[in-house]
Parts: sequence; structure tokens; C-alpha cells
Amino acid sequence: MRKTRNDVRYLISAILLMAAVTTVTTGLIADVWDLNDFIFHKYAGYTLAVLLTAHVYLHWSRLAGYIRRRFTRPPSRRAKESDPQQGPSATTDPVASPGAGRRTASRSPFSRRGFFGVALGGLGGFFVGRGFKTVDLPYGSDVGEIYHEWSKPKWLSLLGAVTSWGQEPDRYKVYAGVERVELPPPGDFRGLSTEDAIEQRRSLRDYTGEPMTLDELSRLLYYTGGVNAERWGRPLRAAPSAGALYPIEMYVVVHQVEGVERGLYHYAVREHALDHLRDGDLRGEIVRNGLMQGFLGEANVVIVFTAIFQRLRWRYKERTYRYALLEAGHLAQNVYLAATSMGMGACAVGAFLDSRLNSMLEVDGKKEAALYLLSVGRV
Ligand SMILES: Cc1cc2nc3c(=O)[nH]c(=O)nc-3n(C[C@H](O)[C@H](O)[C@H](O)COP(=O)(O)O)c2cc1C
Repeated sequence: MRKTRNDVRYLISAILLMAAVTTVTTGLIADVWDLNDFIFHKYAGYTLAVLLTAHVYLHWSRLAGYIRRRFTRPPSRRAKESDPQQGPSATTDPVASPGAGRRTASRSPFSRRGFFGVALGGLGGFFVGRGFKTVDLPYGSDVGEIYHEWSKPKWLSLLGAVTSWGQEPDRYKVYAGVERVELPPPGDFRGLSTEDAIEQRRSLRDYTGEPMTLDELSRLLYYTGGVNAERWGRPLRAAPSAGALYPIEMYVVVHQVEGVERGLYHYAVREHALDHLRDGDLRGEIVRNGLMQGFLGEANVVIVFTAIFQRLRWRYKERTYRYALLEAGHLAQNVYLAATSMGMGACAVGAFLDSRLNSMLEVDGKKEAALYLLSVGRV
């Protein structure tokens, strides 16, 4: 009976240790991958709590004894010496302990224990091997397939978490010393319902040419990616972002907006304003950079999304490029729905000359690169 109780104790202690290791590891994974509700972590935590309670219950007498000894008076040296646990029977001398010699002899790989040791090592090696990245693709796979395969998380990617992928950059791109156009607050305009906007959304390329108002442009930018909330003192925006790191910048090529000069602007999201980067009629240039798609010159505005990759990279490493494209998609759908709701039309454009468009925006195409264009116009 006593033996069974001891076995249960040891079993619970072993599982408790495993649960503690699992809780720490899954917590680390959840933090590295920004998994806000990681089920393994949650259940490992619950298991740990239950086992900890059982452990305390089963070892209560020992624990209480320890606390009593620890907080009453220190044990005298004589008491220690007379403690049978510390006595000569605890020696590891193989002569004094005949079983020790047998234990050493049984570590041969041909013994049963040796065989299990080797098998366990092999099994461990197999699982560790599965944690490493392997790119198993047929010859001739395109770079996208290779990237996709390579950016799949494996549990040993955690090791990559300890290597530095650079500093976290500022979340706001600032143009100092340029003229600023303040945008009116978005107000409480209510257009179509979400259902109607989704229902009616189409890619529209025929625009009337009538000007857009500054209020409309303000709402368009705000509902696309404006700051609309705050959590723990940190601003949150209209579109979701991995780790709330906001890698996407928005530029606006203005062709026809009341009260705004034609030219190139950058959306200063924190201040909800437009920073004026370039003057002039850019219709011809944007059409050429957009592979001669004429409607880019007929819209009221063309919004260009770029990504500043380091904003994601320091945290998400190889998955950065996936997240940047996904986030551009979120913002683009907001453009479509906001435009539709205000009675305007939008069209996404993924076909453009990268280098020329990057030069037009004066971004290097590497640290920051253009990803997506959206024309928006009155229809
Ligand atoms: C990633 C992506 C890239 C696109 N690129 C272009 C483009 O370069 N030129 C264009 O006219 N339309 C482009 N479109 C719009 C599609 O042609 C359009 O969404 C599709 O025909 C479906 O029509 P709908 O949006 O009206 O439902 C693009 C759409 C997406 C999602």
C-alpha cells in the first residue's frame, strides 16, 4: 500500500516536471509567434495547476515538516550527524554497496538497458530531426514555393528566436519639413451597411472625373488604415496587423480632390494628415508605372501601399513577407468597402513596374517596397 502511494507520488512528480517544461516551452512559442490564445499553453497551464495541487496534497506532511524545521530553529549539528539518512549507508562506494557494481556492469549496449538507451536516443534523434527545416520540393519549383516551404514554422525555429534579426524600427514614417495638409475628422458619416457594401463591391475602372471632396478622402484613408482605438496606451488601426506592428505605409497620388493640389502625398496615420512629397500632375507617370493601365490616370486618387519589412522582421523573421502581403490585402479590402459605401468605385492593381514605382515614391525597394495600388474614383 505504502509502495503504491510512493509510486503515485513519483509518477505525479515526473508528470509535474513534464507539465512545467511544456508550459514554459509553449509559453515561449506563444510569445515568439504571437499566439494570443495558444491552446497547448492553456491546457499545459491547467494541467500544471492540477498536478501542483495534487503534489502539494500528497507531500503535505513533508512540506509542513520542512516549513516547521525551516522557520522554527536550525537543526543542531549533532542532530544532523545522528540523522540516519546522512549516515554511512548513503555511500557510493561499490565495495560498501554491492549493487553499485552491478549497475555499472549493466550499462553495456548489449544489455537490455543499453538496448533501450540506444532506442531512446534514436527516437529522440528522429523527433529532433523533425524539428529542423527541410525543403522537400520537386526540381524546378518557383521561388514562391521555396519561400513558402522555408517559412513554415518548425519547433526548432525557436532556436532562431535567440539570434538577432535586428532592432524594432519606429512604427511611424516621418517626413520632416514638408508641407502638411490636415485632414478633417472622419465624423459620423454612415454609408451602406457592411452587408450591402460587400454585396455591391466590384472592381470599377470607369470614373466620372468629378472631384472627390476632402471629407471623402479623409474618410477613405481613415477607414482603410486610420488609428481608431487604443490598447494599453498603444494606438490600434482599422485593419488587423500581426503583433500590431503595422508594416504598411500609405501613399496617395492625388489627381482630383477638392482643395488639394495634385501630387504625391504620404498618409501620416498618427496625425491623420497628408504630408506633401511632390507637386504636379502625376497621371502619366502612374499610368506608365502601372503597365499602361489607363484608369490609374482617370481615378480621383491612387493609393499605393508599401511595406517596411523590418517592422515585422525583427519579430517574425522568415514569415515577414507572408504577413506583409496579407496585411496589404486587409487594407485593400477596406479601400474597396469604404469606397463602395461612399458611392465610389475602386480597383486593385497588382501589376506594376516595381523599380519605377519605388523610385516614384523615393523608397529603396528593399527595406521598403511598393506592394499594391488601388485606384479610387467617383462612379
Ligand atoms: C491581387 C490582385 C491584383 C489585381 N491586379 C489587377 C490589375 O493589375 N489590373 C486590374 O485591372 N485589375 C486587377 N485586379 C482586380 C481583379 O481583376 C478583379 O478583382 C477580378 O476581376 C474580380 O472582379 P471583382 O473585384 O469586381 O469581383 C486585381 C485583383 C487582385 C486581388
